[in-house]
This record gives sequence, structure tokens and C-alpha cells, in this order.
Amino acid sequence: MKIIETVAELKEVLQPFAIHSIGLVPTMGALHEGHATLIQQARQENDVVVVSIFVNPTQFGPNEDFDRYPRDLDGDAKKCEDWQVDFIFAPSVEEIYGSHGGITYDAGPASRILCGASRPGHFNGVLQIVSKLFMLVQPTRAYFGQKDAQQLALIETLVRDYYFPLEIVPVPIVREEDGLAKSSRNVFLTPEERQEAIVLSQALTLAKARLKDGEEAAIVLEQARKKIEETSAKVEYLEYLAYPDLQRAPKDDERKILMVAIRFSNVRLIDNELFD
Ligand code: PAJ
Repeated sequence: MKIIETVAELKEVLQPFAIHSIGLVPTMGALHEGHATLIQQARQENDVVVVSIFVNPTQFGPNEDFDRYPRDLDGDAKKCEDWQVDFIFAPSVEEIYGSHGGITYDAGPASRILCGASRPGHFNGVLQIVSKLFMLVQPTRAYFGQKDAQQLALIETLVRDYYFPLEIVPVPIVREEDGLAKSSRNVFLTPEERQEAIVLSQALTLAKARLKDGEEAAIVLEQARKKIEETSAKVEYLEYLAYPDLQRAPKDDERKILMVAIRFSNVRLIDNELFD
């Protein structure tokens, strides 16, 4: 495995693989089993696997956790070695944005709701960095987790609307044994909050079952909200939506998604249940 820090070297090492299939797994590092699942699937489906590790400043707001976001390149490199990654692309911010001319993205109306409502500009930054990575690595397939359902939906829309020549592969949510979705930010939960955080997946699973039984969405959502609010968490949003549109209630024949975001003292958590 090789760790690459510059765009020029990345292009050079990948050039011989242009005729092979390349799987790209974009990450911000602090790798856990959620990332591992994406990487292992990429390993099975491609000749070459590139994992990018880059804490992308343009997707963090001024008061967000860019500075304290966990970083551990040595630890991540060891894990990637075990997972048989071929190349880690871990550029500096300067390498990616140093000569950037100032052209930015507007990820559209679906980027300003849900997580986008409390994180203005976040998805513009996500689409900006994934576009750069797609152009640089020119992958056959790129792997994204359904954990970040709004991110995935927007990236699928970007690729469709702008004809990016690659396949986006969605990967189901990887959870802890008690149901909490794995996240690099879970380390910021206090022990009490870690216990309470189980309520997130429990409330979603219960709500999904009741919606499938035909119960009225408004009532199901209200009870799920109450269950979550029995803890110290604050509900930021809890919605039942058409997927991948995310901007309206689902019709009977559409895919449906339950999405939730909550805030604890030091950390914001998201989760969702996608179903037919
Ligand atoms: P990051 O939070 O590091 O996540 C990298 C990828 O891992 C994303 O596609 C995310 O959905 C997936 N992932 C994280 N936890 C997961 C879990 N528990 N189950 C399944 N997949 C999981 O998302 C980002 O980085 C960034 O926004 C990025 C796309 C890299 C752009 O900077």
C-alpha cells in the first residue's frame, strides 16, 4: 500500500490502471467499521482500491468541528493495509485548495433542508470535494454509506445531472451491537449520552414497523419524537420522506425514508431507515 499526498503523484500512480476498474472510497479518516464495509465492498468489486482521507474544510461551517475532527493517519494507514487498500490519497488542504480559483457549487434546494438547514453550505462543500476526487481518481465506482442519506442522494443527483462517468454504489448502515450507527463523532458522546443514544435506532425501527402497518405518519412521528425527547437529546429534525427526492412526503409506490438528527451536549448524531 502507498500513501500519496500530491495530485501529481496520484495521477502518475493511477495512470497504468486506467484500463482496469478503480474503486474510490472517499472518507475524512478516523476510520471505523462503517468505512471498512465500504472499503471491503470496493475491494471485492474492483482491481484497484483508492481510499481518500481528507478532512474537507469547505464542508464545515465557521462554528463547526473542523479543528477538533479526529485525525489519525498512522492508525488509518494500518487499517487500510489490513483491508488491502492499494492507495491512500491523503493530501494537505493546500494541495487541494491552494490554487483554487474560487468557483463554488450550489447543491440546490435539497441541500438546504434537513441537515442542510442547520449546516448552511455543508453540501456545497461535499459536492465540491467529491467532484474534485472523481476527476482526479477517475474511478469506475465510488462507494458511499446510506448513513449519510442526504449526502448520498445529492451525490447521486450530481452524478446523474452532470453525467459523471462512474457508478455510485450505496452501502447499508453499519451499526454497533446495540443499534447505534457507527460514526467518527461517537467518541464525543459522554458515557451517559452513549447509553441514551440507543434511542435513535430504537425509535426509527419502531416507527418504521408502525408506518408499514399503515398507521398515520403524523402520529407515528410524534410518538417517536416523544421517545427520543425522554433522553437529554434535542431533536433537530424527524421526517418521513420520499427517497431520493427528500423534499416531500412519499407516495405509496415510492421508496420511503425516515430521517432523524439529534443534538447532545457536544455532538450531533444522524440516523435513518430506508424502506420500500
Ligand atoms: P466520512 O464521514 O468519513 O464518511 C465516509 C463514508 O463512510 C461516507 O460515505 C459515509 O456515509 C460512510 N459511513 C460512515 N459511517 C457509516 C456507517 N455507520 N455505515 C455505513 N457507512 C458509513 O462522509 C464523509 O466522510 C465526507 O462528507 C466525504 C464524502 C468524504 C466528503 O468529504
